[in-house]
Amino acid sequence: MKENQFINQKKDILNLRKSTKLCIIGDSNVGKTSIIKRYVDNSFGQTEPSIGACNHKRVVKLSSGEEMDLEIWDTAGQERFKSIVPMYYKGSKGIIIVFDITNTASFDGAKTWVKDLSSHNNTAILSLVGNKCDLSDIRTVSFENAKIFANQNNLLYFETSAKEGSNVSEIFFTIAEKIPRNKDTTGAKGLKVDEVTMKQRKNNYCCNN
Ligand code: GTP
Repeated sequence: MKENQFINQKKDILNLRKSTKLCIIGDSNVGKTSIIKRYVDNSFGQTEPSIGACNHKRVVKLSSGEEMDLEIWDTAGQERFKSIVPMYYKGSKGIIIVFDITNTASFDGAKTWVKDLSSHNNTAILSLVGNKCDLSDIRTVSFENAKIFANQNNLLYFETSAKEGSNVSEIFFTIAEKIPRNKDTTGAKGLKVDEVTMKQRKNNYCCNN
């Protein structure tokens, strides 16, 4: 057996695959924590405004059959935390910028986040997400306007409802599929350690709970 093959096999056995870092940003109250909660726990419930940032793990299965360990950083949207957010999106392979389709100010906020990102992180896969699409009868940001902005800025665009669960997995799957792979971040086996971590987190969802 070649030395590299041996090392990769060992990594699989010892669960030493590196995680792929993703980050979710956007104004306060747009549903960032709820989107992650839906993706990681498949649940929706009461949330408290985030303080600082905290991370969550999930394994995503790619269309090739490989698995990728995602480390998803949830950041606080409140103005007082804005200056620390770049610490979390720097080095991220994928960044999700969320706004609330019923809140035009949050769409303007997303535009500002996209502008900030262009000066800090230009290699990540970026996705704009219009959340709360279960409230589409009171939407103030049209699908067309959001999509045009996304196209102009090379962003993926999804509309989601963390409440109903629609389109949430699709964001993470699509980003993961687009992230360049290497042997340290994917593997054919499931990750027992992360499954345990997820279960432990289930009743203790976020840092500030
Ligand atoms: P910060 O932590 O302050 O940055 O907020 P956040 O962006 O993480 O928002 P959070 O997930 O805490 O959700 C804010 C509010 O919006 C909560 O009352 C959620 O229940 C609600 N909410 C989140 N997603 C949805 C959704 O898809 N539909 C509806 N109707 N409400 C949602």
